[in-house]
Amino acid sequence: MAAARPIFVVAGVGAGSGTGASTARLFSKNGYRVAVIARGADRAKKLADEINSSGGEAAGFGTSDYAYKSILSVMDEIKSFKWPSTQQPAQIRAALWNAGNSVFNQFLDVSEDDLNLSLQSNVQGPFAFSRQAVLSFRDNELDERGKRGTLLFTGATASTRGNTWTSAVAAGKFGLRSLSQSLAKEFGKENIHVAHTIIDGIILTERTIARHSNMPKAQFEENADARLNPDSIAEAYFYLANQDRSAWTWELDLRPAHEKW
Ligand SMILES: NC(=O)c1ccc[n+]([C@@H]2O[C@H](COP(=O)([O-])OP(=O)(O)OC[C@H]3O[C@@H](n4cnc5c(N)ncnc54)[C@H](OP(=O)(O)O)[C@@H]3O)[C@@H](O)[C@H]2O)c1
Repeated sequence: MAAARPIFVVAGVGAGSGTGASTARLFSKNGYRVAVIARGADRAKKLADEINSSGGEAAGFGTSDYAYKSILSVMDEIKSFKWPSTQQPAQIRAALWNAGNSVFNQFLDVSEDDLNLSLQSNVQGPFAFSRQAVLSFRDNELDERGKRGTLLFTGATASTRGNTWTSAVAAGKFGLRSLSQSLAKEFGKENIHVAHTIIDGIILTERTIARHSNMPKAQFEENADARLNPDSIAEAYFYLANQDRSAWTWELDLRPAHEKW
């Protein structure tokens, strides 16, 4: 039976405390092999090791950056990877582009490097990732839900709204959203499901906890009304991957109960 286990690919898992890592853990618990892409082989391996030691099957794939060619190449590695349990390549059935830069600066303080980082992690990398995912899904038979694969993207408030400090990140996230819509329209007819989420609030991660360290825990870290739990976002991704072809979501927005929006 192990040979039939599908692969879930996730790009962008940071230190292992955010959306990418939570989603990897959840797909693993639900029978997927997990291919982890991160900047730096160590980061990718750390999460893969954790999943392997809790009974799942995962492999880490490091990349130096999220440039188009780097992502084409790391996806080639994943496609030809022989999974230890079978020594065979396996089918990619779900893929999440979760990486995204966090450059927040007023326009005149945005450097060319900031802009490049945003466009690389939100547009160029996702273009290459999508190309490889779509080509891979095309080889799959329809599954029991009537789909060949699910391609997911993590967006943000900045996917639909610019603001005084978001020119760089919004330029990237708008691009990511429009890419996902174009793909949903082009490949829906091939039974490839493409979905985008707008994460409209602050996600609870090691990085955001550090950023809010001057706030009482009751106002942020321990207040489920004030921030998104990455495990809950992961549940939404799993739900999207399980939708049958008669009722597909292209876009989902998620925010904590008390978000002002
Ligand atoms: N944190 C929030 O409050 C928040 C709110 C709304 C939307 N989002 C979006 O949600 C997604 C997941 O974020 P998360 O906070 O839960 O963290 P996460 O899943 O732990 O990781 C997001 C990944 O984006 C990559 N990344 C971060 N900064 C980058 C940079 N400067 N250049 C290139 N890549 C970078 C990292 O990839 P590596 O694995 O290579 O380090 C990081 O792991 C991101 O797309 C983010 O834009 C976050």
